[in-house]
Amino acid sequence: MIENFQRVNLGHFPTPIEHLKSISAFLGGPQIYIKRDDCTGLATGGNKTRKLEFILADALDKNADLVVTVGAIQSNHARQTAAACAKLGLRCLIILEHRLKGAPEIYNNSGNVFLNKVFGSEMIMCPKNRVIEDYADEIIEERRQSGENPYFIPVGGSNHLGELGYIECFREITNDQNSESFSHIILATGSGGTHAGLIAGKTIFKSDIEVIGISIKGTKKEQEEKVFQLAINSLEYVSGPSPSKEDVIIMDEFVGPGYAEPTDGMRKALSLMATKEGILLDPVYSGKAFDGVIGLIKSNFFQPSDKVLFLHTGGSAAIPAFEWAFE
Ligand SMILES: Cc1ncc(COP(=O)(O)O)c(C=O)c1O
Repeated sequence: MIENFQRVNLGHFPTPIEHLKSISAFLGGPQIYIKRDDCTGLATGGNKTRKLEFILADALDKNADLVVTVGAIQSNHARQTAAACAKLGLRCLIILEHRLKGAPEIYNNSGNVFLNKVFGSEMIMCPKNRVIEDYADEIIEERRQSGENPYFIPVGGSNHLGELGYIECFREITNDQNSESFSHIILATGSGGTHAGLIAGKTIFKSDIEVIGISIKGTKKEQEEKVFQLAINSLEYVSGPSPSKEDVIIMDEFVGPGYAEPTDGMRKALSLMATKEGILLDPVYSGKAFDGVIGLIKSNFFQPSDKVLFLHTGGSAAIPAFEWAFE
């Protein structure tokens, strides 16, 4: 079904699934596995590679010469878009916004911001009193007036095209030799497209695997509504069956004070994954999501016989911008 949609090749797929033996033994709960979407192969990897394969095929089809996207200062989506545009010979304009109050200067210059420059993208800061999407509309109109053909990618690449990438990821998971017995998939959910794509995949492939999103921003209710709506759009686009609202499960206990605000749980999760498995998580998304896995094990949410798959969505390129959060 996904084969019918246009796609460009940007990443390395399928990504591996590994057994987290040491962490599973240490936590004493169910066996935990990890799907390495941090190893998608584009610009240090991450979940946006899968989305961009479908989104940028559409941009090329529309003869775009400039790709415009938006995000928080340390957006991983922006960095992956910058790299993908470089590979495809498209110019890339990134509009960034301040979301983390009181962050030190290093947050504004290193990590993904530095990498955006390395990949040759142009960056503009959204004025603090503006809604970023409105500001982007204005810039796009100016560029159009000056003869360019801009193509806009919404925050996080979360739309019907991006979600095709996570329908495909769900298929990869169910085709994997370990998959028959996965009971749960756990992932970080922000702009919602990754989670919505998995829900669409679960619906299409009639799977019993429970997909749990750990919110890194919104409340349970906000995030569930957003992901459900995205899943509806996604399944309409592929002419699939309707999703079920009960399938959209979000936990919002691990966000802490807010988006990108460091929490003790995130620090512990990041340190545990690094010291027990030699794998880097990130402070904003996968660190908080893995804190969610640890929290659910501690609260006896899982049966000992469950097999939990943690989807590592990437983000470690932001770590240098967060050194202060670990002092
Ligand atoms: C590393 C990482 N993980 C997870 C997410 C969340 O994915 P989504 O925006 O599709 O919900 C993002 C989004 O930017 C991300 O950068």
